[in-house]
Amino acid sequence: MATITFIQPDGTARACVNFEGMTLMQLAVGNLVDGIDALCGGMMQCATCHCWIDEAWIDRTGPASPDERAMIEGLSGVEVRPTSRLSCQVQLGEELDGLIVHLPPDQPGI
Ligand code: FES
Repeated sequence: MATITFIQPDGTARACVNFEGMTLMQLAVGNLVDGIDALCGGMMQCATCHCWIDEAWIDRTGPASPDERAMIEGLSGVEVRPTSRLSCQVQLGEELDGLIVHLPPDQPGI
């Protein structure tokens, strides 16, 4: 079990509990967290699941892969940071208990 805290675009925090190894995107969508549309359903084809991993946690989630990074950087109007990830590419596990994720206000498709 892992508790993940999403900081939504309006600054409010939502704590969600992951029980069965979902992706970060699936956890957010399943809990109706504001700021993640995930239009492609996790196929890494839309980038509407972009998020910023909290700086204190990026070593544990790891950075975006080269393909993932290219997808994020290909978006217009999105603030790309070193901690940018596509949440559908972050697999949740016990080791990420306490993870904090920030959701950008300028998400594409929202
Ligand atoms: S849900 Fe489309 S890229 Fe992640």
